[in-house]
Amino acid sequence: MSFLQKHQALERNVTLLLVGSLLVVSIGGIVEIAPLFYLQNTIEKVEGMRPYTPLELTGRDIYIREGCYLCHSQMIRPMRDEVERYGHYSLAAESMYDHPFQWGSKRTGPDLARVGGRYSDQWHVEHLTNPQSVVPESVMPKYGFLSDRSIDTEDLQAKLKVHAMVGVPYTSDMIENALADFAAQANPDADATGLQERYPGAKAANFDGHPALTEMDALIAYLQVLGTMVDFKTFNPDQPR
Ligand code: HEC
Repeated sequence: MSFLQKHQALERNVTLLLVGSLLVVSIGGIVEIAPLFYLQNTIEKVEGMRPYTPLELTGRDIYIREGCYLCHSQMIRPMRDEVERYGHYSLAAESMYDHPFQWGSKRTGPDLARVGGRYSDQWHVEHLTNPQSVVPESVMPKYGFLSDRSIDTEDLQAKLKVHAMVGVPYTSDMIENALADFAAQANPDADATGLQERYPGAKAANFDGHPALTEMDALIAYLQVLGTMVDFKTFNPDQPR
């Protein structure tokens, strides 16, 4: 009996075929999934990644609350058209402190994974307030009301603690100084040494250009840090870490 003839037995008996298929799929599944149980971490550490500052984290929560992720992705795929348009493809490490991650699944607007530093703060204020004043055909809604909304900082420390609980390395020093760091980042005249020590490279500015600290400040602080933590001039994917 040739091999093909033996296989006929499988093909002509539905039950046998089902059992055989299940067996093959299970083996494949175990080979793929089992090794992951023995790995501490599947994300490679990359230099430059730091937790979000309290102000950036607050901005991130506003980004989620307003549903920006419904129109914007934060995930540059390693394909030429994407890399040429948006910059270096996203690394797993770049969303390691994102709980939940903001990869998104739809691009009504462009990807925002590397929007940080691409525009001035002033541009963001104008664009968020009235997108059509910058891009006339834009379908993005207006978010000018963010400039009128102050931020309740009562739960700021608790917010950092929760992120620490799920693995973001917020130290007790960071949690203790959350309110001070929050205020220092939105005021370019404040002493930002503590902020800089705890969050290297954090940009302090009066993001919305108005004296009051509003949700607009927080959201722009968040947008301006996106994709800027890893320095791709020195990043080498083949370097052992
Ligand atoms: C209904 C879909 C939609 C929603 C919701 C939306 N956007 Fe947009 N966004 C767009 C479109 C379309 C563009 C491109 C045209 C433009 O620049 O306005 C855009 C552009 C942008 C840009 C410029 C990106 C670039 O590289 O030029 C930024 C920044 C941005 N959006 C931020 C946000 C933020 C923050 C929110 C939430 C507060 C948000 N968007 C909500 C559709 C949306």
